[in-house]
Amino acid sequence: MSESAAPFVTLVEVSPRDGLQNEPRILAAAVKVGLVDRLSAAGFRAIEVTSFVSPKAVPQMADAAEVMAAIHRVPGVRYSVLTPNLRGFEAAVAARADAICVFGSASETFSQRNINCSIAESLERFRPVVAAARARGIAVRGTVSCALGCPYEGEIAPAVVARVAGELLAMGCDELSIADTIGIGTPDATRRVMEAVLAVTDVARLNGHFHDTYGRALANIDACLDLGLRSFDASAAGLGGCPFAPGATGNVATELVLERLAARGFTTGIDLAAVREAGRWIRERLAD
Ligand code: HMG
Ligand code: MG
Repeated sequence: MSESAAPFVTLVEVSPRDGLQNEPRILAAAVKVGLVDRLSAAGFRAIEVTSFVSPKAVPQMADAAEVMAAIHRVPGVRYSVLTPNLRGFEAAVAARADAICVFGSASETFSQRNINCSIAESLERFRPVVAAARARGIAVRGTVSCALGCPYEGEIAPAVVARVAGELLAMGCDELSIADTIGIGTPDATRRVMEAVLAVTDVARLNGHFHDTYGRALANIDACLDLGLRSFDASAAGLGGCPFAPGATGNVATELVLERLAARGFTTGIDLAAVREAGRWIRERLAD
């Protein structure tokens, strides 16, 4: 697909969830709400707000219901949450989430550390969650973590990523997010993985999620754009990390992605100045 045929790129703003989940200091729910509201006002059409996970696993997300109840919902914005199991899904429904995310992995060890089960077990756990979401008309994203490498296992074969992606798709996920959890990917490796996944799905369903540990996230996004991907996750001020992925630094900064997309002639409907302001604001709250 040529760039001129599809000049719009969807940016999913993940700073309230992936950006904050690894911050050691627990922020007040009101601060998280303030961040989400600033992002809604900046023009994002999709915001990943929080996670309905075990508060022992991720203490920062323990206030998920409180945050979801207090955000100002702008019509047309998709407010999504992470749901590892049916319990999380039920909480997401009660919180009126527009979309959920089941998060799997292409690495057995990361799967165990992150959600305490094997890849096969995780897929069995996701199946009823995805079915329940579809029955309620709630959009479902399936994430494949460690798609470009694992902090415990090292290299991950693109064929494994494609297999997990294919299973998530087959159980009914609307969208697949292919994640470089530790920011280890290069443009060539990114291309290989995305090409493998494109063998099992349409490019319109693919999202790229890049952490920027080695400063290569923008180059990896460029490689994805060249393949026709038009949806990426990004995090204001480059906040981010995963408690179960040692060494991984922040997500790719939304501000940088917006600059790159504009330079390449893509539109997003997002106000860069407002994102910069939101990023500054949340950085100040984290430093308070
Ligand atoms: P488990 O220990 O196997 O599950 O954990 P369990 O059913 O035995 O429950 C353990 C405890 O969690 C129990 O509490 C449950 O009640 C509670 P206790 O009796 O010990 O007091 N619990 C829950 N509480 C709230 N909401 C729930 C829930 N489920 C159980 N939904 C489990 C399995 C999945 C629950 C756990 O491992 C967990 O919550 N993991 C969360 C992991 C996580 O959030 N990781 C970060 C997000 S993934 C990521 O960042 C990657 C991504 O950005 C993409 C990328 O970059 O790769 C998406
Ligand atoms: Mg992540």
